[in-house]
Amino acid sequence: MKKILAFVLILALAFTAIACAAPAAAPAEEATTEAATEPAAEAAPAVTTYKVGVCIYKFDDNFMTLYRQELESYLKSLETDTVKYDVTIMDGKGDMAEQTNQVDTFLAQGVDVLIVNLVQSSSAATITDKAKAAGIPVVYINREPSADDMKAWDKICYVGADARQSGTYQGEIIASLPNKGDQNGDGVVSYVMIMGDPENVDAQYRTEFSIKALTDAGIQVEELFKQRGDWAQEKGQELAANALAQFGDKIDVIFCNNDGMALGAYQAIVAAGRTVGTDIYLVGVDALPECVQMVKDGTMTGTVLNDHIGQSHTAVDAAVKYLAGETVETYLWVDYQKVS
Ligand code: BGC
Repeated sequence: MKKILAFVLILALAFTAIACAAPAAAPAEEATTEAATEPAAEAAPAVTTYKVGVCIYKFDDNFMTLYRQELESYLKSLETDTVKYDVTIMDGKGDMAEQTNQVDTFLAQGVDVLIVNLVQSSSAATITDKAKAAGIPVVYINREPSADDMKAWDKICYVGADARQSGTYQGEIIASLPNKGDQNGDGVVSYVMIMGDPENVDAQYRTEFSIKALTDAGIQVEELFKQRGDWAQEKGQELAANALAQFGDKIDVIFCNNDGMALGAYQAIVAAGRTVGTDIYLVGVDALPECVQMVKDGTMTGTVLNDHIGQSHTAVDAAVKYLAGETVETYLWVDYQKVS
């Protein structure tokens, strides 16, 4: 009897064991089958990410703001599934020492290419030396280094516009007015010149060539006032207000080396009770959207398109060429256009 009981017990245990094991075995078998019939997973495409370091002389600049925004969005638009651009843009805050540190940091971080809008054009040699030592190409933009500095290495280039052209266009806009800019009819175009940072060739050439275009057209000129406004709207306003207070109705034209300062000068003109197009003329450079609108409305006599779109795209295209190991011409010029 004991033997029969023991046999029944063993049988029962054996059944339980089989019953417990069976459900566990089934899914394992299924998983293996699934794995066997699934297509092999595709390998993800290899992505190359280039680090692009951008230095802007100062974020608080109307024109360079448009420029840097376009630079970044155009670079991003060139990304593909396999090529990405990791862009970092630094604000030099108008301080060359700060910008030099930013370049050092970029190089230490291993950027692949630099795009640099110098705080001081005269510091190009220092920046080029550092980049050359690290083997990192540089695209200089907007503030032109000297011709000698541009010979320092074959992996640097400059993207800009010939500022002589913009100055000439400003003068031609005035010379083509029916009274050739002589609003008070005294036979002389008496002008106020509000300059950008004079270290910058854009400021030098615009100042010189705007007046040269008048004298080349046989117009007699008289300089009443010339001061630096460093490209800034507030300074443009302050200087124009001073000039208007000092010279009043004698002023025929206010030339500003850029639109930012012209916007400031316009506020001073209105505050002085003068009317652009009637008893005074006002010209700038850049063709900021608000200034193009003012030219249409007649509250500004004219401006000159400083093509930030063309320049930023040219700069990015040059940087991309460097990344591809291609050579780039030393100078890449983008034309200005009259807006009157
Ligand atoms: C622009 C100015 C700008 C300057 C900065 C010039 O080309 O006309 O608006 O402030 O560049 O360097």
